Order: sequence, then structure tokens, then C-alpha cells
Amino acid sequence: MQLLKWTTDLELGLEQIDNQHKSLINIINELNIGIEYGQPNSVMIPIVEKIQDYANTHFKVEEEIFDNYSYPDRADHEADHATFIDSIKYIHKQCEIIEEPMSTRIRDFLLGWLCNHIRTKDKEYKRFIDKCSVR
Ligand SMILES: [Fe+2]
Ligand SMILES: [Fe+2]
Repeated sequence: MQLLKWTTDLELGLEQIDNQHKSLINIINELNIGIEYGQPNSVMIPIVEKIQDYANTHFKVEEEIFDNYSYPDRADHEADHATFIDSIKYIHKQCEIIEEPMSTRIRDFLLGWLCNHIRTKDKEYKRFIDKCSVR
């Protein structure tokens, strides 16, 4: 299976943030292996927990940046983060109770997040802090 690669259109130019986003690509690739080998949900649970750890750590770092720059769109952005955390919590529960493999669903959820959040909303706050820096 073709592994997903980090591409420059995902890059914000903030080293810590980019490294954290790269770790999400690694998780997606782990899920792709899960899909290829038809791994059961019991194998998905530690991966889902890794996503939860990622989210808790990464969102805190981003929200500290919003604090530092008084980012005006923080409420909307943080609502997205909260929705992600709720969705992952739900997925974790589903992995515990349903038989049907969840790996494809989890992978597609994260691919959607790459497109709809990292590539768009995360880039928006970077544009804002860049503007603050040239003032
Ligand atoms: Fe992010
Ligand atoms: Fe974010």
C-alpha cells in the first residue's frame, strides 16, 4: 500500500507544529497498514489512544499560540479541536463495542482533518501571526 507522504502544502513553517502534524501522517500510515492486513479493532485501540495523546498535546500548543497572539478566530478554531476530541472519544468507544473493522473509518476521518483543518484553519492562524510579526 502506498504510504502517505508529508507535503509542503501542509507545512506551516513552525517547527514544533509541523513535527506534530507529521506525527499524524505517521498515524495515518499505521492505519493504512491496519487496513491492508484487516487488523481487528483490538489493534486499533492503542492507535486511537495515540491519536488522543496527539490531540491533547498538539491542541494545547496551538491554543497557547492563540493566547500569545490574541488570535481573533480562536473560538471557532478551538470548537473544531473540541469536536475532534469528541469524535475520537466516540471512535474509541465504537472500537470497543463493534466487530466490524474501524481502521478505514478512522483513516478517512484523519484524512478529512488534514484537508479541512490543518490545510485550512491551521494555515489561517499562521497567516495571522505572520501579519502580527511584520507590524
Ligand atoms: Fe494543528
Ligand atoms: Fe488546529
